Amino acid sequence: MSLLIRNGEIVTATDRYVADVFVKDGRIAAIGQDLSAHAAGSDAIDAAGQFVFPGFIDPHVHMELPFMGTVSADDFESGTASGVAGGTTCIIDFCIPNRGQSMLEALAAWREKSKKAVADYTFHMAITGWNDNSADEMARVVAEGVTSFKVFMAYKGALMVDDGELYQVMKHAAQLGAVVTVHAENGDAIVNLQRELVANGNLGPEFHPVSRPSSVEGEATNRALMMARLHGTTAYIVHMTCRESVDALVRAKLEGQHCFGETCPQYLLLDDSVFLKPNFEGASFVMSPPIRPAHMGHHDALWRGLSNGMLDSVGTDHCPFTFEQKQLGKDNFMLIPNGAAGIEDRLQMMYTYGVCEGRFDVQRMVELGSANPARIFGLYPRKGTVAVGADADLVIYDPQPVGTRSAKTHHSRADRSIFEGWKVQGQPTTVIVNGKVCFAGGKLKVERGAGRFVARKPMPHVAHGAEQPAALRP
Ligand code: URP
Ligand code: ZN
Ligand code: ZN
Repeated sequence: MSLLIRNGEIVTATDRYVADVFVKDGRIAAIGQDLSAHAAGSDAIDAAGQFVFPGFIDPHVHMELPFMGTVSADDFESGTASGVAGGTTCIIDFCIPNRGQSMLEALAAWREKSKKAVADYTFHMAITGWNDNSADEMARVVAEGVTSFKVFMAYKGALMVDDGELYQVMKHAAQLGAVVTVHAENGDAIVNLQRELVANGNLGPEFHPVSRPSSVEGEATNRALMMARLHGTTAYIVHMTCRESVDALVRAKLEGQHCFGETCPQYLLLDDSVFLKPNFEGASFVMSPPIRPAHMGHHDALWRGLSNGMLDSVGTDHCPFTFEQKQLGKDNFMLIPNGAAGIEDRLQMMYTYGVCEGRFDVQRMVELGSANPARIFGLYPRKGTVAVGADADLVIYDPQPVGTRSAKTHHSRADRSIFEGWKVQGQPTTVIVNGKVCFAGGKLKVERGAGRFVARKPMPHVAHGAEQPAALRP
C-alpha cells in the first residue's frame, strides 16, 4: 500500500520546504524532489499550494471518561474520528482508576475501551491516592509503556491528591524516568469558595469561575513545580489558563528546572462572559480551570508564552458533555459535569488566531501541536515530524478556504461547540493516518479499531534544578 503526496510545503518544527513525500506500508519511505518514478503505481495527491504537516498530537483528552455522575460523550471511536477530521492523528488519554481500583486494573479497562480507536493513542496514568502498592504499580505501568502520570490537585473527595500523596508520586516518577502531568488548582480553597457561594444562593453556572479564581491555580502550579523540584521530577502542567500560573512556570524554567506547560485554545480565545449566556447555555463552557476574564492579562500571558517559548504545547482537554448531561447541575453549578469538546477545533484555531494573526509562525504551530507533545512524552521521532521512517501520520492543510466552526458540522458527539460561529482560515483537506487516507474532501473514511496503542520508553532521570544540599553533595 503506497501513496505519493506531490509538491506540498512540508512544515516541521525545524524545516519548511517544498518536496514530495512517499508513503509505503504505513511509514514515510522517502522525501525528495519529484519522486514520481519512485512511486509508479501508487495513488497520488497533488498538494501544491498546501502545507504538509506531521499529524497533530493531542496530549490531553478524555474519551468515555466516567466523571461527575456521567460519562464523557465521545468514546474512543467518535473522539479519535473527530480528531482526525481536525488534523489530530494521535491522542494521549488519561487512564483514571476508579476508587479502590489498582492502576493495572484501570490500564486493562482503558486498553479494552480504546480498542475501537480509529487513530493511534497512548495514556497518562492518573494516581488518585497512595497506598502500599502504589510504588510497585507505578513501576509496572512504566514497564507496560505508559511513562507519564497524572495528579489532580483539585476535585476534592474524588480525584484530588493531598501534598503527601503528591510528594510520593513526584518522588517515584523521578526514579522511574517518568513525567508527572498536573491539574494545578488548590482543591481545598475551591471547596471553601464553593460552600460560601452555595450558602449565599449563588447557584448558576456564572458562579463556577468565581469558585476557582486564578489565584488558586497560580498557587497550585507553584506548589506542584516546587514538589517536582524537590525530587528532580519532570513536571508538565496541563491546561494552564492564567498569568499567575505562567509566572510560576517561567520562574521555574529560568531557575533551570526541567518542566513544561500546556494551554488550550479555549483559554486563549474565550473569556468569562460565556458563563452569562441565558437559558443555562453558560453550562456548556463549564470546565476546570475556568475560562478567565478578558481584562486581567491572562490571555496576553498565555499568547506571550506560546510566542516566546515559555509554554510548550497546545492541547485541548477534549472532554465533551451534551447539553442534557450538563443538566445534572441545573440547580447547582458544582454538579455541572466539567468539560467541553475541542479536539477537532485545535489546528484551525491555532492556524487562524496564532499564525494568521502573527503571534507565531507555522513551524512554531507544528512544534506546539505535534513535535513538542511527541518529544515531551516519548513519541518522537516516530511521531511529531515528517521524516523518513516516521509513522505516515500527515495533514495536508489548504490555507485558503475560510470557514466557520459549528456543532452542526463537527464530528464529535457534543451537541454544543464552544467555538460556535468562530471564523477559521484554512482547513485540513486530507488527513493520513498510518499511511491511509482517513479524511478527504470533508468526509471521514476511518476504520473502527485501526488505531494502535503506542508503548513509550522512560527518559533517563536528570535532576535539573533540584537542590543539592552540602550534606548530599559528592
Ligand atoms: O473541566 C475539565 N477540564 N474536565 C476534564 C477533567 C480535567 O480536569 O481535565
Ligand atoms: Zn484537569
Ligand atoms: Zn483534562
